[in-house]
Amino acid sequence: MPRPSVFVTRLLPGGAIEFLKHHAAVRVWREEEPPLAEELVQQAARSDAILSLLTDRIDANLLSNSPRLAIVSNMATGFDNVDIGAASANNVLVTRTPGVLSETTAEFTIALLFATSRRIVEGDRSVRNGQWKTWGPNVLLGVDLAGATLGIIGMGGVGEAVARRGRALGMRVKYYSRTRKRDLEKELRISYSSFTSLLERADFVSLHAPLTAETKHLIGKAELDLMKPSAVLINTARGPLVNQSALYTALSRQRIAAAAIDVSDPEPMPPDDPLLTLPNVIVTPHIASASTATRSRMAMLAAENLVQALQGKLPKHTVNRNIARQWRERVRGRFTSS
Ligand code: GLV
Repeated sequence: MPRPSVFVTRLLPGGAIEFLKHHAAVRVWREEEPPLAEELVQQAARSDAILSLLTDRIDANLLSNSPRLAIVSNMATGFDNVDIGAASANNVLVTRTPGVLSETTAEFTIALLFATSRRIVEGDRSVRNGQWKTWGPNVLLGVDLAGATLGIIGMGGVGEAVARRGRALGMRVKYYSRTRKRDLEKELRISYSSFTSLLERADFVSLHAPLTAETKHLIGKAELDLMKPSAVLINTARGPLVNQSALYTALSRQRIAAAAIDVSDPEPMPPDDPLLTLPNVIVTPHIASASTATRSRMAMLAAENLVQALQGKLPKHTVNRNIARQWRERVRGRFTSS
């Protein structure tokens, strides 16, 4: 039986690629930047499985032009880069890597909370610009996290890990989420809130919702107008959750105090984006899950999901489980001799 053909869209940390090589014929895109759309379509057309990243658009065009393709293993907890409807229509299984990045992403979120509340980036910039003239009782005053209200939107793995840290720092934590988690409310002493009341009351609003058609521009002018003038917006989830031009207007008019965003729309953020002219915004290049250990774990989980699927098994982290039966039919006996 010929070895299954797998395309990996970038060099990955840790042992994931070596692991895949035990199970398949593997081609790896070795450039720093992702393959262009046409290249990706061509590679997908030659593959039984792809290990993709959030920078790869797995769209209807690619899926309908890849008759061999049976598995897309996305190395991310989010999967908004994959057209799930088109994948299911083409009987392609899609998997993701939740859980393994929650703690690391939450640590980074808290780093952004500190960076904004204590004006760390502004402070560093003022030293570099020669503006540090003296210790001053009124210089770069910030706000304390202890006693402040943290409003978390989206209570999945990352939202929960942020809530735990917020509580450990002495913050009051409110959350809004599609699913209410009463046990967690009791355990962490956090409270459920309506979306509107969370925006009105939080000192820090932190986004942890997936990007879907419903959550696109979840935060726009109306929502920013509800926030306190002293409030800070943190986004380590997905750029399009926020209407970026509304954010620019709110920050430049000091309708809210500050923002820290690890994700933007588009990515990468062009260096001439107006947001980058403002002192009260911190922008980082989508690195919330970027620790060596976590990225290696994400890569290995993506590789494991892919190999399980090659063995005809339904991985735990399958997104479109609804096609399991047809998909099993499709791959039966194709990659394994069983
Ligand atoms: C990162 O942004 C992820 O979704 O894993």
